[in-house]
Amino acid sequence: MAVRSPLINVMTGAAIKAARALRRDFGEVEQLQVSLKGPSDYVSTADTRAEQTLVAELTRARPRFGVLAEESEPRPGIDIHHRWVIDPLDGTTNFLHGMPHFAISIALERDGEIVAGVVYAPLVDEMFWAEKGQGAWLNSRRLRVSARRDLADAVFATGIPWKGRPGHKPFLAQLESVMAEVAGVRRWGVASLDLAYVAAGRFDGFWEANLKPWDMAAGLILVQEAGGLVSDLDGRQGMLESGDVLAANQHLHQPLHRLLRVAAPKPA
Ligand code: IPD
Ligand code: CA
Ligand code: CA
Repeated sequence: MAVRSPLINVMTGAAIKAARALRRDFGEVEQLQVSLKGPSDYVSTADTRAEQTLVAELTRARPRFGVLAEESEPRPGIDIHHRWVIDPLDGTTNFLHGMPHFAISIALERDGEIVAGVVYAPLVDEMFWAEKGQGAWLNSRRLRVSARRDLADAVFATGIPWKGRPGHKPFLAQLESVMAEVAGVRRWGVASLDLAYVAAGRFDGFWEANLKPWDMAAGLILVQEAGGLVSDLDGRQGMLESGDVLAANQHLHQPLHRLLRVAAPKPA
């Protein structure tokens, strides 16, 4: 049975509160879509407002913890062991274009290790949550990664670098090698939800380079607690530092890793 600890209740409560305004703002953005000025200023206000709500709620419950959030300067806490890692709106491009696929992501780091994570998709009311040793859950349903063993049956998610971002060439090589072997590749534009979907067995794996800690922190513990494997693209555990992530079920992590490394070996 899903028993949410006080910590998880604090995190999910903050996400639900911030989501109310995001949902309203998304409705406005859909209207603004057709105007010449476009909704981008509006979206950055929505983003900042969601972050303020999250930080206020989390700090009210745990005043001594530090905060690393996307839209503001890092705040060291009096408690040097604990830090919130927050993305108030993951999937900004989708939000801006009126596409209903985005999330709020909150993780708690203890002495550098992620010990709890929440990824909330407000428009479908899907609350993914995990706490170290307590499993991964979607609302009140326990999550398991998929059981698929063969690359030929696998659907993987990824992130495509865009204008101004590094890594176009290696990404194209990776995609070429992966797409030749698998049932499908998706780019849905929300790294936190991509990882949550791996935890839920919807995707069999996910890889992306050059992410920020807030894009992946909550998703990483979701995958681990759902029985999946996570690493960086070198197969090591430096995901938050390198910004690279490779997550998959236990059968497909190694085959996916191999395809990616052969396609784009790290420069010596
Ligand atoms: C982005 C999303 C996207 C990923 C980008 C991130 P944002 O976050 O997670 O899926 O490909 O690298 O920056 O900007 O929407 O919070
Ligand atoms: Ca993000
Ligand atoms: Ca964001």
